[in-house]
Amino acid sequence: MSSPSTTDADVANSYNEWDPLKEAIVGCIEGAAVPQWEPSFEVDLTLQCRDFLQMYAGSPFPRELVEPAAKELEEFCRILTAEGITVRRPDCVDFSQPYSTPDFSASGLYAAMPRDILLAIGNEIIEAPMAWRCRFFEHRAYRSLMKDYLRRGAKWTTAPKPLMADELYDFDYLAKSPEEREKLALSRSKFAVTEYEPCFDAADVVRFGRDIFVQRSLTTNQLGILWLQRHLGDRFRVRTVSFEDSKPLHIDASLVPLRPGLALTCPIRPCHQAEGFKKAGWDLVEAAQPTLPNSWKMLFASRWLSMNILVLDPQRVVVEAQEEPLRKQLEDLGFETISIPFRHVYTFGGSFHCATCDVRREGQLEDYGFPSE
Ligand code: ARG
Repeated sequence: MSSPSTTDADVANSYNEWDPLKEAIVGCIEGAAVPQWEPSFEVDLTLQCRDFLQMYAGSPFPRELVEPAAKELEEFCRILTAEGITVRRPDCVDFSQPYSTPDFSASGLYAAMPRDILLAIGNEIIEAPMAWRCRFFEHRAYRSLMKDYLRRGAKWTTAPKPLMADELYDFDYLAKSPEEREKLALSRSKFAVTEYEPCFDAADVVRFGRDIFVQRSLTTNQLGILWLQRHLGDRFRVRTVSFEDSKPLHIDASLVPLRPGLALTCPIRPCHQAEGFKKAGWDLVEAAQPTLPNSWKMLFASRWLSMNILVLDPQRVVVEAQEEPLRKQLEDLGFETISIPFRHVYTFGGSFHCATCDVRREGQLEDYGFPSE
């Protein structure tokens, strides 16, 4: 957790999800706050989450949820450090402070999931233009880190921040019945966000070297994907992927590459482009069933966080301690697994992949079999 002071072009170096991991930002749960209701929550929040928001909106998350999750995060950091990985943490920010812009008023969420906001590609770290109002100021927790990466040689970019005025949200769509919304979402014609301005969450992006796969989701629009492609230029091919998913939000519990030629997919959200992956020489393997009981408090995600694993290198992966079927499956696929308890972090909407941003991995930009078109 030191901050070395050398200037080095490789200070950030990350092209895929599996090369040997050298440095990662790990999220921080301290300061997390329960967000106030906002338009896009209409689609993706479970009933359980709705009641919880009603009760606590605008206040810090209850201690009894924060404390065990913070302990799990500490233990995760300790294990990564013992594996020789440099761990960096965001600043502690009180996210319960309310704020207003000319377009809206809200209060914050957390800095628990760096994956959602930070996109590391090569030597560059991009702050994503996220679409939830409660995440408007989330970057504040990462400013110390970003300044340090900049000073030491990384390229730091912030994508154009959405205004998040009402025009960004499709109120017609949001007002429809859940059944109608599901139909529209499955036909991929409507989402919670409009095309008013670019937006995307970094967690809707998965890196396969030169090929960067992005999903249109509740927080990512076409214009956001266009911004990313134009920004990254010819060295990368930004490709849209989609899944049988009526509430797409973050790709990292739907398509999880493990090593070149092998990726996990989610059995309840088949990938529409599976054939293309197969043609490119990739085996898509359905992840084993999660073990989390339905009664477990889950606020922004599903039990399929089980597959939100962190690949340390093409031989080793970090898996949640109680996800025994997945652990067994990964071992059968030839991986050594490191089991770490993380269910209390699950409650906040992410697991190991969400809670990290892999700023530095060994390796360079490569092609992994996808046609150049
Ligand atoms: N939408 C996913 C699910 O419910 C959760 C993905 C969470 N990912 C993240 N980076 N926060 O299964």
